Amino acid sequence: MRKNSIGIFDSGYGGLTVFKSIIPEMPEYDYIYFGDNARAPYGDHSFETVYRYTLDCVEWLFAQGCSLVILACNTASAKALRSIQQNVLPNKYPNHRVLGVIRPTAEVINQYTKSNKVGVFGTRGTVKSASYQLEINKLYPEIEVLQQSCPMWVPLIENNEHLNPGADYFVQTYLNKLLQNKAGIDCILLACTHYPLIIPKLEAYLPGGITLLSQGDIVAKSLKDYLSRHPEIESGLRRSAGQRFVTSGDAAVFDTLGSLFFGAPIQSEVISL
Ligand code: DGL
Repeated sequence: MRKNSIGIFDSGYGGLTVFKSIIPEMPEYDYIYFGDNARAPYGDHSFETVYRYTLDCVEWLFAQGCSLVILACNTASAKALRSIQQNVLPNKYPNHRVLGVIRPTAEVINQYTKSNKVGVFGTRGTVKSASYQLEINKLYPEIEVLQQSCPMWVPLIENNEHLNPGADYFVQTYLNKLLQNKAGIDCILLACTHYPLIIPKLEAYLPGGITLLSQGDIVAKSLKDYLSRHPEIESGLRRSAGQRFVTSGDAAVFDTLGSLFFGAPIQSEVISL
């Protein structure tokens, strides 16, 4: 009997930009979205803390009947995914799967650059982990990956200040830092699932000839492909188009702000871990 949902996890709201792209690709499945807003942002937390928080949330989603969980958060994908896949799943949850957003993005990045110079905007944690450099260079050693952390963007976005005039300074600052003395970048990857919201501001300052790349569609297509290659997982998924939103923070705040990320109204439940 089909009984499992797909879990989508983020430190808070960012994964909603990925979930928004997954739904049109695969509307038939049941989903549980979990934002760990009470402990977000994750961007500056240590490896150990991000691992512990992420594992808590993944295990909660498993307990709700999710056999497959997507870490729709670059910071969690960079700092927790490998340990969960290698150390936790084989011993404790051999029939469960956890996937991230870094590998699927690295796999297709070559389609978006002609100069073989790719910029990456991410949280401090993602940049420090160098996960994008490692994953991209494993597949495409010819691509130079130039990173810039943008620690002020998540707070601006989470306070809905990202399109106001005060945000311009921080948009220009990180853009200038990335592009300074690094001629030839023709693609900038937004390697934080919050960042698609700041695209209108970024576009105002972006020099011509540079493409901004968000991950939602890439991750959605990769998930669809994964399910087509793994019938043993797909056959266990319930198909009743259910959507459940859960936060460890405040439901009213989540509903208001989350709907900006999701592009549609949201009604969430609160859980405490
Ligand atoms: N959305 C998360 C990511 O993709 C970052 C937000 C945070 O710092 O918690 O990295």
